[in-house]
Amino acid sequence: MNEVIKVINNRVSLRRYKQKEVDSASLDIIIESMKRAPTAGNMQMYSIILVKDSSIKQRLSVTCDNQKFIANAPVVMLIFADLQKWFDYYQLEGCEEYCKRHNLEYSTPQMSDLMIAIEDSMCAAQNGVIAAESLGIGSCYIGDIMESYEIHKEMLELPDFVFPIAMLTMGYYPDDFKKTQISRFDNEFMVFENKYSRLDESSLKKMFANREKRFTENNIYEADNFAQMFYARKTNSEFYREMVRSVKEILKNWDGKMKTNS
Ligand SMILES: Cc1cc2nc3c(=O)[nH]c(=O)nc-3n(C[C@H](O)[C@H](O)[C@H](O)COP(=O)(O)O)c2cc1C
Repeated sequence: MNEVIKVINNRVSLRRYKQKEVDSASLDIIIESMKRAPTAGNMQMYSIILVKDSSIKQRLSVTCDNQKFIANAPVVMLIFADLQKWFDYYQLEGCEEYCKRHNLEYSTPQMSDLMIAIEDSMCAAQNGVIAAESLGIGSCYIGDIMESYEIHKEMLELPDFVFPIAMLTMGYYPDDFKKTQISRFDNEFMVFENKYSRLDESSLKKMFANREKRFTENNIYEADNFAQMFYARKTNSEFYREMVRSVKEILKNWDGKMKTNS
């Protein structure tokens, strides 16, 4: 195995960190690696906010589903799908007037722009994760950054066409840390040839057989099986419902209608 494959395969999500600062030279390497990720049309439709300030980390640990370890991470990196810069540039350079003159449609960013900006952002984020890992710096994604939109918008001064898509906590592995890898689904349920293959009942049972071992009869959700327990814990949880609400609120901006810039 070469070094790249080793780094990819040995990574785990790290939620406990050595009390050691991540120096700016390492952060520069991580960010340059993020920027080298593929990016649609070379548009780089994302922005990054580095958070080192303890009070902001503390607030994020609360607004992102009360995950205390966020506050203890030496660095927190926020990654945003960002069409604001491109849209502002179009405005600056008279694209609206140009479209009027040439009878072309001119609009604010659309949902499809958001989707491709999210693809861009995640390519960059994962390059950052692997670059960090190669330097001995572990990380953990925090999906809950999509929650509490109104709070994050005000706190981080986000304009309308900036969508908080990923957050990474980063720090060195503690000396006593023992890596435990979490299993993944087998290829037969994930990798298809030439066309999609919808899984039948027996394949689904086979796919989840390992995870079903984690089911406990006496669970607080009064669930009868693993699926019900998982649904109750995850899909029907308070944080999940907040994510649904928050994302709906964010998406209101991405309607492709013309409006004055904010
Ligand atoms: C989009 C995304 C969001 C995630 N959000 C969280 C989170 O909010 N809190 C957390 O502790 N881990 C979070 N994780 C980490 C996953 O729980 C973790 O990747 C998964 O359990 C597999 O473990 P591994 O990364 O160690 O292989 C997230 C991962 C991804 C990709």
